[in-house]
Amino acid sequence: MRLDKYLSHSGLGTRTETRKLIKQGVVEVNGEVCLDIGRHINQADVRVFGDLIQYEEFLYYMMNKPKGVVSASKDPKQPTVIDLLQGDNPLPVHVVGRLDKDTTGLLLLTNDGALAHKIISPKSKLPKVYEMTLEQPLSHDHIQTLEQGILLDEKITLPCSITHVNGTQYTITLMEGRFHQVKRMMHHVGNEVLTLHRTQIGPLVLDESLAAGNYRSCRKEEVKKLLSK
Ligand code: URA
Repeated sequence: MRLDKYLSHSGLGTRTETRKLIKQGVVEVNGEVCLDIGRHINQADVRVFGDLIQYEEFLYYMMNKPKGVVSASKDPKQPTVIDLLQGDNPLPVHVVGRLDKDTTGLLLLTNDGALAHKIISPKSKLPKVYEMTLEQPLSHDHIQTLEQGILLDEKITLPCSITHVNGTQYTITLMEGRFHQVKRMMHHVGNEVLTLHRTQIGPLVLDESLAAGNYRSCRKEEVKKLLSK
């Protein structure tokens, strides 16, 4: 792989930015300053400002999505979650499993297309956990109806589980991710979702120390668990 691409894939910036670094003479390959942006790199010791670069083919971020931001890569009128990545998106990182503009919580962003596909595939049946505040409490009958499955878009929803937290707060665990699914399920029983916050996608749990709008790289063990699903 070319040196500029190698640095870019390692999270050091866009190709333009990594070329600048190389031209500045701050990049060493196997102990010698390298000014050749096209130098072929294969198992080399690459350092920038003396620091060893750990090559990573894929990037995985978890974000605590804030309200008012859309889960798209680009939007001409509204801020997107990708805008929140600032300079950390040298690669085309995409959102895996969208949240509505007013929904908060766990988002996974990655350039690992195979993993993204696996997670959003209806076949994977990965549980997604949401905390929700409703307009009214759910009756026992409504919980049972929703848990067993209701008709949405001429297709029955997969069995889910709903747990009462307190007052009008509940957690709901879905094994699928259909358009506005939670809100439409609550409408079905005459209720309204006031707040919706995702805390979990399969084995990936939202880091509670991440403030709304913040993100971090997924830890090795988190990625390992996701990849094993
Ligand atoms: N269900 C919804 O209705 N909205 C979301 O953002 C996620 C699940």
